[in-house]
Amino acid sequence: MLAPTEIIQNVKTLRNELERHNYRYYVMDDPTVPDVEYDRLMNRLKDIEAKYPLLIVPESPTQRVGGAPLAGFTQVTHEMPMLSLDNAFSEDDMQDFNRRIIGRLGNIGAEDGVVEYVCEPKLDGIAVSLLYEKGQLVRGATRGDGETGEDITQNVRTVNSIPLKLMGSGYPERLEVRGEIYMPKSSFDALNQEAERTDNKLFVNPRNAAAGSLRQLDPKITAGRNLEMCCYSVGIVEGGAFSDTHSDSLYCLNQWGFRINAEMKVVADVDGCLSYYQSISEKRNLLPYEIDGVVFKVNNLALQQRLGFVSRAPRWAIAHKFPAQEELTTVLDVEFQVGRTGAVTPVARLVPVFVGGVTVSNATLHNMDEIERLGLMIGDSVIIRRAGDVIPKVVKVVEEKRPDNACSVTFPALCPVCESEVIQLEGEAVARCSGGLFCAAQRKEAIKHFASRKAMDIDGLGDKLVESLVDEDYIKSVADLYKLTRFQVASMDRMAEKSANNLLGALERSKNTKLSSFVYALGIREVGETTARTLSNAFGTLEKIRTANVETLLAVQDVGPIVANHIVSFFEQSHNNEIIEQLIAVGVHWPDVVVDETDKVFQGKTFVITGTLSQMSREEAKEKLLELGAKVSGSVSKKTYCLIAGEAAGSKLKKAEDLGINIMNEQAFIDLL
Ligand code: IVH
Repeated sequence: MLAPTEIIQNVKTLRNELERHNYRYYVMDDPTVPDVEYDRLMNRLKDIEAKYPLLIVPESPTQRVGGAPLAGFTQVTHEMPMLSLDNAFSEDDMQDFNRRIIGRLGNIGAEDGVVEYVCEPKLDGIAVSLLYEKGQLVRGATRGDGETGEDITQNVRTVNSIPLKLMGSGYPERLEVRGEIYMPKSSFDALNQEAERTDNKLFVNPRNAAAGSLRQLDPKITAGRNLEMCCYSVGIVEGGAFSDTHSDSLYCLNQWGFRINAEMKVVADVDGCLSYYQSISEKRNLLPYEIDGVVFKVNNLALQQRLGFVSRAPRWAIAHKFPAQEELTTVLDVEFQVGRTGAVTPVARLVPVFVGGVTVSNATLHNMDEIERLGLMIGDSVIIRRAGDVIPKVVKVVEEKRPDNACSVTFPALCPVCESEVIQLEGEAVARCSGGLFCAAQRKEAIKHFASRKAMDIDGLGDKLVESLVDEDYIKSVADLYKLTRFQVASMDRMAEKSANNLLGALERSKNTKLSSFVYALGIREVGETTARTLSNAFGTLEKIRTANVETLLAVQDVGPIVANHIVSFFEQSHNNEIIEQLIAVGVHWPDVVVDETDKVFQGKTFVITGTLSQMSREEAKEKLLELGAKVSGSVSKKTYCLIAGEAAGSKLKKAEDLGINIMNEQAFIDLL
């Protein structure tokens, strides 16, 4: 039995330790203990608090999970208004901004005609204000209109990178910290994937997801969303000034437990700002969060004070914005494209719009489910998003703008190219044209794929030329490519004699290929470049791949049942084999691959893994076995060669014992490896 003082001391030590780990993990991105250790400490604290509820205080790390739901948000008047920023869109705008500052400061502050700036990414989230009194978080509020926001204290308390209690010392009695709450890209993707799985509405972008998560009356929902907070300025400071420059004040905030942006940089002058803009633009897609520009601020706080404000924005700061990644446009039509595997994909034809740095006039709609989810009609106004190099996407329909003559999208029953029936298999989101290679669209795509660089690498055989050759009926299959005559090639549009000769030369050269490139070129469903290489390394010859059954294919690393079935059914179709024979007959050839069997000690042997492994995951164990040529199955049978039994193995262990099968514990397995 512990004395009350000892219990209180234990609680204090646990809280301090948890706060330190929290800071290392959520603020510094540099954890010092594994997650399990953090969980252990947290559970210990929870246990004590459950036993002695009087010891629970609001700043305890256990209190981040969110309390009872609110009936509504109360309004908060900001003691100091939360301003916005003026925007710059070009280098000229930036030079003007700098000139205005130097002009205003004149000989006091910009004596040598230069001003020092702090550069920061402009985070695309929600601006918030956090008020600390005597180091305790007492209120969190949204920016609102800058004058009045909403009290979201309950919700900000669930954000792990926001300290409930300031760390260290030297902070003012009253301190208002301002910054952005945002959702990292990875958390946004995960949230939307889950929404898609559960048939819920998707969020348009991470900013909307962050806003939606903060606007929850039930803080438990906010707690379940992975939000982060990064601070970029200070509001109220009472009872202790703490720095002369903006950069120093951010470093102080960091010491007191706040996340600051790792990309923050102090530069000597406006040229530094311009190169910062350049370097962040190049890095933008690699950053784990969304930004929509960069912000430049005069570093010296006394100079900021002298420059003051104009209307709602400070004169000492500016946001240099990136070109927009979202734009509004109109859907002119929805057409259906047929891909290589017959997948019929709806594509929105759009009024061209400049977004994410390019002009976009089409956007894929993926499938009918997507159209239904968006509630899209022809004639609708839609938000198009193109972030990074990602293909443009319709993210939202603006229903308020729907015209009276908007019409709904109907999925074609017949293929728009060959008029074969379109079939949607049970459980598949994609509908496919049943025409196979009879369908000109599928033929064209199959030939384009065959000619592509990672396949047969036929230089000069571009997409347009393939389409024309099929339209002219010069080629019906990939084998026909090698039967093209000089006359046929030269008769194509924009084909000078020289390019015709080049193409024929490239076709000739492509006959000398590799097994993996040839297998990839065949265009078997789900067999990408990597799987093609794996297959050729595992089997060595086309004949062996061609005659492999599902079971043999499953023994190959990374080949699952779906791929295995696609491979088998591809080679079951006589017309595929005929084309392969024709290709070989015209001289397509490759050297066989030498299959290295020496380290495949478990070739063909079936293993089963059961129970919990402590030194590796079951997935890792499976990979190691596959590398050694083994097959890994989920159930024990007479055919099982060996059972690897981890902790708490149950019925499979019993069955293996009954059947007299080899059993290995984890250590024995590791020793063997
Ligand atoms: S400073 C007086 N710094 O941009 C200066 N704002 O258009 C106040 N923002 O509402 C803002 N990243 O939500 C500042 N590094 C950053 C920022 C940033 C994003 C947002 C903020 C503000 C809006 C201004």
